[in-house]
Amino acid sequence: MHRVFKPSISLRPALLLLTPIAIALLAACTPDNAQSTFGTAGPIAEDQANLFIFIFWIAAVVFVLVEGAVIYVSIRYRRRSDSDKLPHQTHGNTKLEITWTIIPAIILIAVAIPTLSQIWGQQSGVPSDQGEVLSVEAIGHQWWFEFRYPDHEIITANELHIPVDRPVAFKLTSQDVIHSFWVPKIAGKVDMVPLNDNFIWMIGTEPGVFYGQCAEFCGIAHAHMRFRVIVDTEEDFQAWLNGMHTEPDAPTPGSPEASGQQLFAANCSSCHTNNSTGPGSYAQEINIQQARWNGWLADTENASIVSAPNLTHLGDRLTLGAGLKDLNQDSLIGWITDPSSVKIGTRMQLHAAIYDTPDGKAKLSTSEISDIATYLLSLKPGTGAATDPVDDSSAGAAIDAVAVFATNCVVCHSTADDKKVGPGLAGIGDRAATRVSGLSADEYIEQSIREPGAFVVPDFVAVMPTDFSKLGDDTIDALVTYLKTLK
Ligand code: CUA
Repeated sequence: MHRVFKPSISLRPALLLLTPIAIALLAACTPDNAQSTFGTAGPIAEDQANLFIFIFWIAAVVFVLVEGAVIYVSIRYRRRSDSDKLPHQTHGNTKLEITWTIIPAIILIAVAIPTLSQIWGQQSGVPSDQGEVLSVEAIGHQWWFEFRYPDHEIITANELHIPVDRPVAFKLTSQDVIHSFWVPKIAGKVDMVPLNDNFIWMIGTEPGVFYGQCAEFCGIAHAHMRFRVIVDTEEDFQAWLNGMHTEPDAPTPGSPEASGQQLFAANCSSCHTNNSTGPGSYAQEINIQQARWNGWLADTENASIVSAPNLTHLGDRLTLGAGLKDLNQDSLIGWITDPSSVKIGTRMQLHAAIYDTPDGKAKLSTSEISDIATYLLSLKPGTGAATDPVDDSSAGAAIDAVAVFATNCVVCHSTADDKKVGPGLAGIGDRAATRVSGLSADEYIEQSIREPGAFVVPDFVAVMPTDFSKLGDDTIDALVTYLKTLK
């Protein structure tokens, strides 16, 4: 009845195995690890790390005292022989019970005071004495991050630029499922929830590149949903803002960049915008992303588009695939050829028509893929002047309808016959004349621009943004005239 416990296996192999695993796991905790919360680079992360250390030491003392007492009692009062008698049994000791109720209560109060004050402090927004606040909207998508700078009308993806020593207030949301926004060294983590705005703020106190990561399981590529935070000096940050409103230089005709530009427009531009530098491009990209998403939701099996990262000035970025790989010609070629081999779960391969092949690889030649990569890496602020995003007036200038179409329509409409999100527009002038009795071709096209829901062509989804009247009467007239020339 009184058996002595003897382990049936030797502990030594288990220890030999566990020691390197423990060392490997603990190595992830060194402060210089990119996602360690111990090497902090901002006051919010620092406060949280200090709070962790405070609670850790309280827990360590409790652990040593409790475990020490358990071990002491187990050894001191162990059963020494079969002839030992059962000791005197007692039940209840008021003094002891009061003591071990009060001590934990005091410990929990000591932990709760700094914890709650920090939670409330960080939830109540940026204190007014912290200087000029930068506003950013961060949106989670399966499986990448979108960043919008509403005051600067800039939209980008997966790499967030912020100025050093300035508070940044984030509005966090999600387009699809629950994600979580986490920048271990600079800020804590807060969930990104669809249809529910959350908030977080942070200050980066050291210029440099920091890791961000989705911290809420959100599907197959959750672990590969990362981002970078680039903390710029104030001067570099202003240069970045300006650069984001400066068009890239046009590719030299006949160059690989020029060929890549055409291939990109034909194969990639339905989902990826790459030219959000001009006036009005910010609002337009927001509308288009929503339209892409609505189109995908309407038919998730067969959709040929889905919302995707904005690639404006991709050549200035450090990573691809949402922080997964260093960005360079080779990695980009690998990505375009077979994205899922780099990042399992990416929707790109499931939906883009160029991957509709038996082996799922891009329907493009090696040199075509290389040209697209060369073109994308060439996308950087050009030598022209930056535009003022807030100045949206084109008064007095002759209206370039081709440019208006390229900025506003080309993502969803081809000028040829092929279907994108919307119908191809070749021959629209002839078709429009007979579409709705009583409406001339001009009237039909104009009304379709101003009220996209009025005449939806069969087999298409009504996803066109409804605010194109903002283009103004003259621009819409010029656009109608241009559209009628498409054959
Ligand atoms: Cu997004 Cu996990």
